[in-house]
Amino acid sequence: MFDFLKRKRVLPTFAPLVTDMHCHLLPMVDDGSKSVEESLEVMGIMKECGFEEIRLTPHFNYPRFPNKAADIKERYKKFCSDIEKKKGDRQIPRITSVTGEFQVGDGFDEYLETGQLLTYRFTDATECSEKGVVLIEFSLHQKRMGLEDKVYRLLTEGYDVILAHPERYPYLDSHSEMLQRFKEQGVYFQVNILSLDGFYGEAPLKKSFDFIENDWVEFLGTDMHNVMYAQALRHASVNKRIIKLLEKHEFLNKKLAVGN
Ligand SMILES: [Fe+2]
Repeated sequence: MFDFLKRKRVLPTFAPLVTDMHCHLLPMVDDGSKSVEESLEVMGIMKECGFEEIRLTPHFNYPRFPNKAADIKERYKKFCSDIEKKKGDRQIPRITSVTGEFQVGDGFDEYLETGQLLTYRFTDATECSEKGVVLIEFSLHQKRMGLEDKVYRLLTEGYDVILAHPERYPYLDSHSEMLQRFKEQGVYFQVNILSLDGFYGEAPLKKSFDFIENDWVEFLGTDMHNVMYAQALRHASVNKRIIKLLEKHEFLNKKLAVGN
């Protein structure tokens, strides 16, 4: 069934992005990597696919993953030191920061009100809002009440907002009025690379290309969780439609990169 995942062929297709800004490789804090070893294996594949840098974005999703910012920062420090000790001569991307993927749902207001929203900065700090850039997601299952109010509050309180994988919400289609309003308000959209390769099915595949063709998408992310996702990234790296897309379309991932 997963024969295609075993193929060894890989290309550095994602090199123009420089940095991956969405992955779950901080071990044992969410449904992503389960160990430093697993993260190392995945990061090796990401490097083969062209990524020079990665930014860790564990889930902050109450009550499923009720992470606390202070604890995540501690674990991040330990993880970086474990990676240095264990990587040996493996080629892997640089780890440049930890932020989070904050689900707009129960507990979100508390993260906001207690200053726990971990944010990215653009390399040129003048290009982002005072409080930085926060990655948010919605429920994948149901449209919750008040999403627009929460996003509006973030914007008015001085955050820039990136909405993760708009193509993955079954209740938001390619012509969604809510998404249209978000674009008018300056919300950035991040599409998952694996959506472009059909990993999540036909509907996300179609919507991901529709959104990009609408010029609605500023960022691509791997949303990397584990070795199976990494093998799927390898598969995506040789997808001709994706290769062409990366050749002709410029994304803003580089603006988050530290090393450029
Ligand atoms: Fe994610």
